[in-house]
Order: sequence, then C-alpha cells, then structure tokens
Amino acid sequence: MTAEVRVVWRPTSALTTAELDAALAVLSNEEHEQHRRFRFPDDARDYAAAHALLRAELSSWCGNNGPRDWRFNRDASGKPALAGGRGPLPSFSLTHTHGLVACAVGPADVAIGVDAERDDRDVDTRRLAARFFSRSEIAALSALDDRARRERFFDLWTLKEAVVKALGITLLPSLPSMTFHMVDRENGADIRFDGPLAAAGSPWTFALFRPEAGCRIAVAAAGTAPPAERPIPLTISCIRAFFTSM
Ligand SMILES: CC(C)(COP(=O)(O)OP(=O)(O)OC[C@H]1O[C@@H](n2cnc3c(N)ncnc32)[C@H](O)[C@@H]1OP(=O)(O)O)[C@@H](O)C(=O)NCCC(=O)NCCS
Repeated sequence: MTAEVRVVWRPTSALTTAELDAALAVLSNEEHEQHRRFRFPDDARDYAAAHALLRAELSSWCGNNGPRDWRFNRDASGKPALAGGRGPLPSFSLTHTHGLVACAVGPADVAIGVDAERDDRDVDTRRLAARFFSRSEIAALSALDDRARRERFFDLWTLKEAVVKALGITLLPSLPSMTFHMVDRENGADIRFDGPLAAAGSPWTFALFRPEAGCRIAVAAAGTAPPAERPIPLTISCIRAFFTSM
C-alpha cells in the first residue's frame, strides 16, 4: 500500500487579469482582506494565486467540497489547517515566492511541507549555513566552487524549510543536527537525512526540483500514524497547474 502526496505548482508572472479574477473569486472574506493588505501588487497576485490553487487542489483531492467551501484556521505559529468537516480531512502545505506558487496535498496522517525559493536573491549564505546547517553540510559546501556552493546552499535551505513547514517552527533550533545527503541519479536526486528526527522512526520522503530557472521547490512528507497503520512508501507526484482549468 502506498500513499500519494500531490504537489502542484504554477508560475504567476504571466497571469492574466481574467485568471487573477478567477483566483480571487474563490477566496474567502479573510483571504480578500489579506490580499488587500499587500503593499506590492506582485505579492498580492501570488497570494491570491497560491490560495486559489490550494482550494482547487483540496477539492480535487476530496470532491465533496467546492473550492469556495474550504474554511481554514491557524495555530499560534501561523500554520494553517482545515477547520472541521466530515471524515478525515487532507493534510496540506502552501508556498508562494515571487512569480511562483505551489501547494501539496496528501492523506490526513501525513505531515507535509512544501517550500519554493528563488536563488537569485542576495543572501549571506555563509552566515545562514553557520546558523542552520550541520557541520558535515558546511564541510561539504566548503569543498564546492562558488557556483556549486550557492546551488547546494539553496537545495539544503529549501529542503530544511520544507521539513520545518511539515513539523512546525519549533524545529528551528534542531536544524543544525539534521544532515541532508543528496546523491544525483539519472531520474533525479536521491535525498535522505540523518539526525534525531530521522532516527525517531518517521520514514521521510523528499522531492526537490527546479520548475524553472532560478527557482526550486522542495517537498518533505512523513507518515504520522503508528507504524503498523502507516502506508509505506509515500510517493510524491509533482505537476504543473494551469489556472484556466479552475
Ligand atoms: C513559517 C515559514 C516556514 C513560512 O515560510 P516562507 O518561506 O516565509 O513562506 P512560504 O511562502 O514558503 O510559506 C508561506 C505559507 O506557509 C504557511 N505557514 C505559515 N506559517 C506556517 C508554519 N508555522 N508552519 C507551516 N506552514 C506555515 C502558510 O500557508 C503561508 O502562506 P499564507 O500566509 O499565504 O497562508 C517561515 O516564515 C519561517 O518561519 N521559516 C523559518 C526561517 C528559517 O530560519 N529557516 C531556516 C531554514 S534552513
């Protein structure tokens, strides 16, 4: 038995007014309020696109609710969850970065995190790596040339953010004890990680891909049910969405 985590992504820079209007039409009053609060139109566009994409995907996952019907609440850390409903509600995660949005939806008993990052930002990679990466990750980075180091930094950063989004921001202090290993294979990288979290027993499944130049998306998923009831392995499928189908 396997369980699927479905990841859907969409570039937003070329979104038409009609597509944006279609996205806004399925948002709740709270989401409209949040949409109006953005200072920059591109951020508002990405917010609307991400939330509409999530609503469409939740409805395609469990068809008894239309995209407008979903209600959400947030825990103290800001992590959103579905607010009630009949039967086991799906688990999900959402991300938006400039010009790119993605969401991941999966079974209720799977912790899911998805993160999209652009690598054309000006960041102090050494300082951030010293704070959030393990010693062996830092050592592996320092063996690379500048270009490869920057690429690998964003790979690791995006993967760690995905794990944080799956499990919660209380995980931040333990990020340096988490070491990712990536082995490049013909059909994509084989990604594993070591550390207390991995040893705690949850089998994790990761995906990392570049939907377009300058961006990457990482997905982290782990079963939360007791081992005997846990469907293994998890599969992660990643597809591009087209808003015209919404
Ligand atoms: C919460 C956090 C993970 C969100 O990530 P981000 O890269 O800023 O933004 P993203 O676009 O990827 O995700 C935003 C979405 O995540 C969701 N989210 C918000 N808080 C969340 C949380 N605590 N846990 C999981 N998901 C959360 C929301 O859906 C939000 O979108 P919305 O506000 O439109 O509903 C981020 O703000 C954070 O605290 N990151 C830790 C930073 C850090 O030190 N990372 C080290 C990594 S090596």
